[in-house]
Amino acid sequence: MKRILVTSALPYANGPIHLGHLAGAYLPADVYVRYQRMKKRNVLYICGTDEHGVPIAIAAEKQGITPQQLVDRYYADHLDTFTRFGMSFDNFSRTSRPLHHKTSQAFFQNLYDKNVLVERTVQQFYCETCSRFLADRFVEGVCPRCQQPGARGDQCEKCGSSLEQTELIKPYCKVCGHTPVLKDTRHLFFKLGDFQAKLETWLAGKKGWKENVLNYCRGWFKEGLGERAVTRDLKWGIQAPAAGYEEKMIYVWFEAPIGYISATKEWAERIGQPDKWKEYWMDSRTKLVHFIGKDNIVFHAIIWPAMIMAHGDLILPADIPANEFLNLQGEKLSTSRNYAVWLGEYLAKFPPDPLRYYLAAIAPENKDADFTWTEFQQRNNSELADILGNFINRTLTFAKRQFNGVPAAGELNDLDRAMIQVLEKAPVEFGDLFEHYELRRGLTALMDVARFANKYFNDQQPWATLKTNRSQCATTINLCLHTVQTLAILMEPVLPFSAEKTWAMLGHTGSVHEQLWDEAGSLTLQPGHRLGQEQILFSKIDDKQIQPEIDRLAAISKNQSPTAAAPETPAEPVKISYDDFSRVQLRLAQVLKAEKVEKADKLLRLEILVGEEKRQIVAGIAKHYAPEQLIGKTIVVVANLQPAKIRGLESNGMLLAAEDETGQLAVLTPDRPVSCGARVK
Ligand code: MF3
Ligand code: ZN
Repeated sequence: MKRILVTSALPYANGPIHLGHLAGAYLPADVYVRYQRMKKRNVLYICGTDEHGVPIAIAAEKQGITPQQLVDRYYADHLDTFTRFGMSFDNFSRTSRPLHHKTSQAFFQNLYDKNVLVERTVQQFYCETCSRFLADRFVEGVCPRCQQPGARGDQCEKCGSSLEQTELIKPYCKVCGHTPVLKDTRHLFFKLGDFQAKLETWLAGKKGWKENVLNYCRGWFKEGLGERAVTRDLKWGIQAPAAGYEEKMIYVWFEAPIGYISATKEWAERIGQPDKWKEYWMDSRTKLVHFIGKDNIVFHAIIWPAMIMAHGDLILPADIPANEFLNLQGEKLSTSRNYAVWLGEYLAKFPPDPLRYYLAAIAPENKDADFTWTEFQQRNNSELADILGNFINRTLTFAKRQFNGVPAAGELNDLDRAMIQVLEKAPVEFGDLFEHYELRRGLTALMDVARFANKYFNDQQPWATLKTNRSQCATTINLCLHTVQTLAILMEPVLPFSAEKTWAMLGHTGSVHEQLWDEAGSLTLQPGHRLGQEQILFSKIDDKQIQPEIDRLAAISKNQSPTAAAPETPAEPVKISYDDFSRVQLRLAQVLKAEKVEKADKLLRLEILVGEEKRQIVAGIAKHYAPEQLIGKTIVVVANLQPAKIRGLESNGMLLAAEDETGQLAVLTPDRPVSCGARVK
């Protein structure tokens, strides 16, 4: 193996990132990549947003904005939250970029020229009110399998069956609600079945792959692969390059994985070596690893490899470590019910490392995992703070106070030798686990080293030997400092921010990310070396911080909205408590429309978007702003104000503006892009 190319599934740019995403396709990949970088392997980590497809078109239409506006917003949001979470992509691209369009069309053309894309006439629902064919989820109806309403044109979420839209009972148009009619339409189909034998042989050779992935594929082979439509009647997407198909788009699942290639090309251009992407995609000595969630298996392990086989010249994935799902407080995540923990909201309250740690410790590697706030708190407090943080802290404090830096080691006793052995073995042991995507066991091993180290510290009693046997005390502290150094390096893939802090506390310049994994256990600290500034590594999380999170989810789970119980005590006239303040829901909103209110020269009527929700507000700012100055702006609104009628118009919220003594008025806006609907506090 000469180089490694790692990808994480491209997230749809139609909603923010939540913990389910992180646990499945992102955090495991980032840990793997960070580890490989410290092994000094040539590794490239690629991701980006998936910006086409029906859900995006529908979401934009519902919100009254263009798909481009929608994906722009979520691209910025994903990039920002991923960065703050410590995701170390070499490139985070997006599929709406021209380079991706060009690359996808060339890929499509290649397959078309090879006659593996064939034309078929099929019957499809057409909405006469909206004048369009209803692709995939644009049509819903009653599921023919489980008889439940709300089944989508491609799948029923209730029973999980894949559907043909023509099977739907009582179909209706998702946008206007009318009953569609069946009409003939032409589409290009990928002859997937032609590749079944080749795929089966290829997968039979993947002995080390996860059982869930292999089993899933066997199921598909048993049913037979057949043909898959690769064009869609849509306005938003990448135009199909075949003659007679100018009005149609390439199916999003056909072009999205090609995004891995486009993003690599983009990276190569950026570093000024535009041909370098070929090393990653055309050289069989590259190991291509796709990190995904289990819902993406068929696309990555069957359809995408078949596309690569059809295309020729490109390498096949070497591994597809698919993860199972993450549940929340014992229940399935549901983004539509807001039963999820959003990364942006998490990061507004807690640091990234404890979440990275907890998600890696419960990673849904072989079965679904359950995230609970209480366990998150426990793991943070009793493992990160009490074991790892405590050891690092007590060692550094002791060394600074008693030795003013790194003391020289003297003669070794049995305990010392045991400690050294643990340090020597740790990088090899961990390395092996990370190499095989075993985060859970990796973290147990990490905590075991810290536990062992705490015990070593206790057993050696440096506070006692300080007075009775100073040389032994120095040896103990020397080895404890080396252990801190080893831990800093081993922590890096999972706890990059804390590892960096630890590195600085050890008085090292440079970054822990540049260290050699294989030398993590070496005793390289020079006697006399000065230590750095102490910092808090892991803070404890108390009940008060997590109770609101638990309550919020419980309220959704019971299908109630959280009722803010009014406190009994009257608020003080001047000072208010934080609780009082927090009852006022301030949120960011985007102004979609603004217009003067007739016969009211002070008022503007605004249509705003608060998160996903459209609202109307009436604001007394017409003397200060022309309507067009506000359109497109992000403003701050009181979102839970009781609705009021102003001049006969419903006003559902209030915008915030600052006014000085002279009557000058300024509408408040955030000073950098944050996602619409974000809480202001
Ligand atoms: N957007 C898809 C999802 O979130 C994943 C696309 S992965 C790619 O499920 F390979 F197609 F890019
Ligand atoms: Zn319609």
